[in-house]
Amino acid sequence: MELKIKNVCCIGAGFVGGPTMAVMSKFCKEIIFNVVDINQKRIDAWNNEDLDKLPVYEPGLKEIVSKTRNENLFFSTNVKESIKNADMIFISVNTPTKKSGLGAGKASDLKWVENCAREVALYAIGHTIVVEKSTLPVKTAETIKRILHYETTANKNFDNKKTFAILSNPEFLSEGTAINDLENPDRILIGGEDEDAMNELEKIYLNWVKKEKIIRTNLWSSELSKLIANAFLAQRISSINSVSALCEVTGADVNDISLAIGFDKRIGKLFLNSGPGFGGSCFKKDILNLVYICDHYGLHTVSRYWNEVLRINVWQQKRISSIIVEKLFGTISDKKITILGLAFKANTNDTRESPAIKICEDLIEEGAILKIYDPKVKESQIKKLLPEKNQVNWSYYSSVLEAAYDSHAIVVLTEWGDFKDLNWTEIKKIMKNPSWVFDTRNIIDVQKAKSSGLQTWVLGQST
Ligand code: UDX
Repeated sequence: MELKIKNVCCIGAGFVGGPTMAVMSKFCKEIIFNVVDINQKRIDAWNNEDLDKLPVYEPGLKEIVSKTRNENLFFSTNVKESIKNADMIFISVNTPTKKSGLGAGKASDLKWVENCAREVALYAIGHTIVVEKSTLPVKTAETIKRILHYETTANKNFDNKKTFAILSNPEFLSEGTAINDLENPDRILIGGEDEDAMNELEKIYLNWVKKEKIIRTNLWSSELSKLIANAFLAQRISSINSVSALCEVTGADVNDISLAIGFDKRIGKLFLNSGPGFGGSCFKKDILNLVYICDHYGLHTVSRYWNEVLRINVWQQKRISSIIVEKLFGTISDKKITILGLAFKANTNDTRESPAIKICEDLIEEGAILKIYDPKVKESQIKKLLPEKNQVNWSYYSSVLEAAYDSHAIVVLTEWGDFKDLNWTEIKKIMKNPSWVFDTRNIIDVQKAKSSGLQTWVLGQST
């Protein structure tokens, strides 16, 4: 199969662009991949001799980068030159939720995407396939298309021999498993209208993905599928979290419910773990986008439906902090509470939208003194997360035991493997009496904790 694409440029060297291009460079040796970014520091980190200093940590990533970097994978700030040389350009820049103006708090800020499109229009030569890779609200491809069209046809200063084909190719990477998700994807979505361009992108993937897994749709279906996939995943978590509260008051065990319903093939086993709520960079943002789009089209009942998924998520976090206060005799003012885990899930140091942060804020608001430990999240990071005025109300420790010393309660907020097998007898000895443990992830050995004399509360169980 002959590839027409010889040179690929990816604008944006972040969590999506870097690993995606690394995996492509591994499987497509005859293509040159240039990953560009305006952030010099980030590019330097990608080029660091010490592979442990790459700006993204993902299992398996450094092994790939060690083999393909400076062979057919290059990282630079040379945006202009790389666009010029490219037959295919991936746009993989960030699209944070807008902080102000129209759609503030819901819509994505497309500023970076728009800038990219303008640069592509300016520097591209000949025919270029532009692939939308960032998670974007539906109809963004239309914006990119309009900018490219306007810049190349309406603007007289431009070389009108430039042509573009726009494709949507959303990513479905999960933090911690990104390389595996890229190497063994459940599916690849290619949205577009231009058959030739779609064929070229498909040919790249066919180097390691089976044809049956490649789904071709129109642009809008591809863009919307990404939002809906995340909305459905988040919805499952809100559903099981709502059930956790019901289990606590009725005597059922939420783990049994997850197991029982997960055996139904139509439901499936994954994403049924109840916890303190979903976090991470995608779920909330994507649902907010979905809500915004529905409202835009006057589908207010639909937008309310999806908004409830977010409301349950906030409710679950509030519910947990209220239970902690209630169990500690209705007040936690000046009480020391140990926080185990701040990351939004295990095996990452990412704290974006972490439910643990919201719960910590609530506990601080109630007057507690937090003693925080997370195996990967650093103290300097926490300083940016928990409000300045409250910094006297928390301190950071580098082990579970140090964090547990002299505290009234322990709250497990991230499902780190280390927390599954804690020595409760030793921990109990150094805590205040009565000592409590609140497990919001259903991971501790409750029997051991109880027999060591701790009072326990476990999410989704009546204790
Ligand atoms: C998610 C999607 O999985 C991925 O496809 C998309 O591209 C980006 O968003 P990620 O944010 O890395 O990936 O994390 P994920 O593993 O999906 O977990 C999201 C949140 O849900 C975490 O806070 C996690 O703790 C929580 N979660 C997950 C649960 O509470 N219960 C579960 O059963 C699964």
